[in-house]
Amino acid sequence: MKLIPLAKPQISREERTAVNRVLRTLNLAQGPEVKNFENEFSKFVEDRECVAVNSGTSALHLCLIALGIGPGDEVIVPSFTFAATANVVSLVGATPIFVDIDPKTYCLDPLMIKDAITTKTRAIIVVHLYGLPADMKSICRIADENSLLVIEDAAQAHIASIDGKLVGTFGDAAAFSFYPTKNMTSGEGGMAVLKESSIARVCRLLRNQGMEKRYQNEIVGFNLRMTDIHAAIGRVQLRKLPKMTERRIENANYLSANLAIDTVPFVGIGYRHVFHQYTVRLKNSREEFSGKLIENGIGNDVYYPTQVHMLPSFNAGTELPETLAATQQVLSLPVHPGLSRRDLNKIVSRFNKIIEEQGS
Ligand SMILES: Cc1ncc(COP(=O)(O)O)c(C=O)c1O
Repeated sequence: MKLIPLAKPQISREERTAVNRVLRTLNLAQGPEVKNFENEFSKFVEDRECVAVNSGTSALHLCLIALGIGPGDEVIVPSFTFAATANVVSLVGATPIFVDIDPKTYCLDPLMIKDAITTKTRAIIVVHLYGLPADMKSICRIADENSLLVIEDAAQAHIASIDGKLVGTFGDAAAFSFYPTKNMTSGEGGMAVLKESSIARVCRLLRNQGMEKRYQNEIVGFNLRMTDIHAAIGRVQLRKLPKMTERRIENANYLSANLAIDTVPFVGIGYRHVFHQYTVRLKNSREEFSGKLIENGIGNDVYYPTQVHMLPSFNAGTELPETLAATQQVLSLPVHPGLSRRDLNKIVSRFNKIIEEQGS
C-alpha cells in the first residue's frame, strides 16, 4: 500500500532551474545568492539582519556565542523539543535549565519559567513548537523584569505570528531551520536573525573563520557558511512560503473539523499557527495506534518520544510532568502542503475507523 508521507519537501522545476543557474555561474560556495537570500528573508522578520548558515543548529549556536552566553551562565530551555535547542547551550559551556511546558500549547509555560530563574540565569530559549508561537507577551515581560536575553528557536515556525507580529522579531535573536521536512527548505540550512547589527556582525565573523576581509581574521571562528546552491533553493522556497503555509493551515483546519478527537491542536486568539506538525494526543495505546495507521497507509511519527533532559547527554534529574505526559501521548499526522483532498479524506476515514475499533 502506498504510504501518505508525514513530510514531503515541495521541490519543483523552479528549484531545479535555480540550482542549475548557480552551477553554471561556478559560484558554488557562499556568494551573491546567499546575500540575496538573507535580504529576502529579512522582509519576513521586520527587516532584521539575517545571517545564513549551514543549519538551524549553527544559527542557534552563533546567536548564543555572539550574545556572549558562556560558562557560568544558565539558560532556560524546554525539554519537550529537539535536542539541538539544549545542545547549543552545552556547546557554549553554559548550563541548560529545563522547564516544563503548557500542556495545551506544548511551548514553555511562563509560570514555570519564573520559578527557574536564579542569579545565574542569562537567557531563555523559547521554542515555537510545531509552528505555534509560544506565549511571547508573558515570556518577554518576564525576561524584561529579570534582564534576561530571549532567543527564539523558530526552526519549525516560519511566518507564524501573534497579532500579526512575526516570530523571530520578539527576542534578541532567533534561529530558523531549512531542513527538508521544515515548512521551507534549502536542503540543509539555517538563518540567524538578530535585533542588533553589532551582534549580527559577530555572527557573520563567527560563520567565516572570524573574517570579514579575506585573511584578516578578527576573532576565532568556524566555517558554518551556506553555499550558493542551497541559498538558491531557499530563495525559491521563500517565494512559495506564504502559499505553502496557507495550505498547511487549510489542511490542519480540515483535520480539526473531521477527525474524531476531543481536543484539536490549540490556537489562541490572534495566534497564527503554521502547522509544521499537526499533533494529537492519544491517552492510551499510542504505539499500537501508530502501527495501525501505518498499516492503513498513513505516515505518522512522535515528536518527541524522549524528554531532552533525560537523555544521557544531559541526564538532569528534574521532574517535568507535562513534558513526560506529552512524550508518552503525542502523535503527528501528515499536514504538509503536498496533500490532496483525497489524501486528507483517507487520513480522516482511516484515523476515525481505528478510533472506533479501539473504542468498541
Ligand atoms: C525545534 C528545533 N530546533 C532546532 C533544530 C535544528 O535545526 P537543523 O536540523 O537545521 O540543525 C530543529 C530541527 O530539526 C528543531 O526542530
